[in-house]
Amino acid sequence: MRQEEMQHARELGSKVVYQIYIRSFCDSNGDGFGDLRGITSKLDYLAELGVDCVWITPFFPSPQNDNGYDVSDYRAIEPIFGTMDDFEELSREAEKRGMSLMLDMVFNHTSTEHEWFQRALAGDPKYLAYYKFVDAAPDATAENPGEPPTNWESKFGGNAWAYVPSLNKWYLHLFDVTQADLDWDNPEVRAELAGVLRFWRGKGVRAFRFDVVNLISKPATWENDYEGDGRRFYSDGPHIHEYLQELVREGGIDGLMTVGEMSSTSVENCIGYSNPERHELGMTFSFHHLKVDYLNGNKWALQEPDIAQLRDLFATWQEQMAEGGGWNALFWSNHDQPRPNSRFGDTERYWYESSTLLATCTHLMRGTPYIYQGEELGQTITDFTSIEQYRDVESVNYYRILQEGGLSPEEAFEVVHARSRDDGRTPMAWNGRPNAGFTTGEPWLALVGNYDTVNAEAEAADPHSVRSYFKELIRIRKENPIIQCGDIHFLDVGSDVVIAYERTLEDKRVVVQCNFSGVEQPAVASGVEAVLIGNYAERGDAMTLRPWEARATWA
Ligand code: GLC
Repeated sequence: MRQEEMQHARELGSKVVYQIYIRSFCDSNGDGFGDLRGITSKLDYLAELGVDCVWITPFFPSPQNDNGYDVSDYRAIEPIFGTMDDFEELSREAEKRGMSLMLDMVFNHTSTEHEWFQRALAGDPKYLAYYKFVDAAPDATAENPGEPPTNWESKFGGNAWAYVPSLNKWYLHLFDVTQADLDWDNPEVRAELAGVLRFWRGKGVRAFRFDVVNLISKPATWENDYEGDGRRFYSDGPHIHEYLQELVREGGIDGLMTVGEMSSTSVENCIGYSNPERHELGMTFSFHHLKVDYLNGNKWALQEPDIAQLRDLFATWQEQMAEGGGWNALFWSNHDQPRPNSRFGDTERYWYESSTLLATCTHLMRGTPYIYQGEELGQTITDFTSIEQYRDVESVNYYRILQEGGLSPEEAFEVVHARSRDDGRTPMAWNGRPNAGFTTGEPWLALVGNYDTVNAEAEAADPHSVRSYFKELIRIRKENPIIQCGDIHFLDVGSDVVIAYERTLEDKRVVVQCNFSGVEQPAVASGVEAVLIGNYAERGDAMTLRPWEARATWA
């Protein structure tokens, strides 16, 4: 490993990031939405867990059509979340506890309520050039706008172009119709966004997450996609690496803790984004491993998770990123994903074992672990029984789209129930009191009924809780250079439901084995058998993995 890569690995590999979905974390004023002061009140909880960096989802002014990922001003605070003073207080208090804040930069698109878009709508040519506007046919009308520039699909359903009658133009929106894609080919746009980074740098922010950032560079010509939804034309687009390098340089963030969310990407591109020699980002989120329960790649069609495929994907991403000097963000969960224990585990029979197995599996890999609020408590997906309980724009759209495609309301509900982004967005369970201590008001989204037992307070007292296990995993990473920057190599134990790998550093070796099933599986004997961590209290047979057993042993 080169010097620079080794340093990068030690630096990022010793850190753990905690993700806060602000509207669901802690409500300080009883309006039913979490807020900045709520986060400040829980910093001791985060410090006790041992996290280094706290990623907070967007809290900038926004009409909230996509819960803040539709930003209307990059340099201010959305009133439902607090004020700039609240932010500064949070920042000081985090710093006192040795934690940094990671801000979420949504730079692929703005809200259509952003001043730039509003000026574009008024016909100002400077701001028309900030977005992807394309002329419509001369005879287009609001009733009959004709064919959109391409047949690409919006990620939230429907065509990705919207027609504006007053301009007789279409604009591109890869997400909601109120999220207009910026034109990164315009140097003025790139300069504005670098200015936003310098603004937050000036406020002491030292970490950034970049939302869907590999979608920013669009192709030079607009073509229909007859094989897919259009993503192959704009994911990891033609100038992506050049634009990221410029943003990092001009924004003054080189060498800071940064992560890019990379949609439908490749290992090669992620090595490019995260190898420190390239001065792009610190690390990348990729999502292939979270599609192993999509039937034929379709999120809205259910299938049992394919663990053999999961193992192969982890092996590819872990081993090849290491070879190319790239760095992975390690995660199962975020505000866009159903809770992983409900999805890949068995929360009925093995709630503790499967919740802790998932954590063991990723936390001991090469990369930087991310914990999504409530994951450290074993929170599960919703127990909602009606579509009225859902708030997410994507879920509501797909409930309709699935029925238009022929599913019955019951069948459509079953799919949405398993796949909704609201599955991971229910409020944080702090204690067993009403609304789990999240709010004294009416929560914006209902809680999951099991918060009487699955909550931070109840789990604090118990040394065998999911929460205590996460704390232990974090401590182990911090104490062991082999976990931070050791090599990784996947092992075949002869079972399709076991994921096993070894970490090595100098003459040391750790073997990690996870049984993704409720029946015993063969294990590899690791030799020394001194247990680093495991989710069964009693020691078992070295050659067998018990149901949902995860263990890491020195070898
Ligand atoms: C990312 C965010 C998601 C949002 C989308 C559009 O995928 O994580 O919540 O809807 O980008 O900004």
